[in-house]
Amino acid sequence: MMLGACSGTQSALDPAGREAGEVATLFWVMLVGAAVIWLAVIGTAVFASRWQGRPVSERAGLRLVLWGGAIVPTLVLAALLAYGLRLMPALRAGEPALTVEVTGEQYWWRVSYRGPDGAAIESGNELRLPAGHAAEILLTSADVIHSFWIPSLAGKLDMIPGRTNRLVLHPERIGTYRGVCAEFCGRSHTFMAFTVIVMEPAAFEAWLARQAAPAATAADEGAFLANGCGGCHSVRGTPATGTIGPDLTHLADRAMLGAGLFANTPENLRRFVAEAEEVKPGSRMPSFGMLPPQDLDAITAYLGSLR
Ligand code: CUA
Repeated sequence: MMLGACSGTQSALDPAGREAGEVATLFWVMLVGAAVIWLAVIGTAVFASRWQGRPVSERAGLRLVLWGGAIVPTLVLAALLAYGLRLMPALRAGEPALTVEVTGEQYWWRVSYRGPDGAAIESGNELRLPAGHAAEILLTSADVIHSFWIPSLAGKLDMIPGRTNRLVLHPERIGTYRGVCAEFCGRSHTFMAFTVIVMEPAAFEAWLARQAAPAATAADEGAFLANGCGGCHSVRGTPATGTIGPDLTHLADRAMLGAGLFANTPENLRRFVAEAEEVKPGSRMPSFGMLPPQDLDAITAYLGSLR
């Protein structure tokens, strides 16, 4: 079970980025340091319990307390602190190739890229980054304190209402990772996750250009609009311009639904629309299970076609 944490899409010990690599190294250095101190303390205790020789003089006892209790711990902790501090500026250095704004909301992630022309490209619950390039993530919150953490790429950073925190990432390995909210933020805190996809830079540029375009769909938007979905959600290029919930313009391109809750399949999409309040307690998305089945089918078909 312990070894299960050593790899996977959400492991700080299997780094896929420069910052996570430094965090992992710091962890191992601290672990070895702690193990050496633990062995010394236990060794001393075992030795003392078996000590059969003559009583220790007061002077020797004082020397032991001074060295063992003050000088050696101070030296060890100062060395570990200096090593840790040395890593910190590196975590903030680097001229970013792109900037992404991420806002934590109960219980999802508003993601906003900048297009080549500087215009915002809205998305949600998925973060794509080019491999080998520094990315600056500007973090804030719309309601309560959340915490942005992609264990495979970097350490975590809080998202605080009214404040913007800056995190610079250097993703190095192409792949799909999992990010989570690492600060308890309400009933569905545990259902507040997101997908992170590190791509070839050229593929990322092509993807971003596609995201900037309005949704391409042949499906009928009638049921989606008639049932008021556009009051909370935007689908660019349609009359749906709500900003309360995630932008759904290219929903079919996303790997997961409901902020990491379900894989993005037609069955799960229908279920989320029908049972949002049940599957995601406390979220602002109401359940639409009372709609006629043909409306649910039409909304599901429409959303599933948004590429
Ligand atoms: Cu957001 Cu926990």
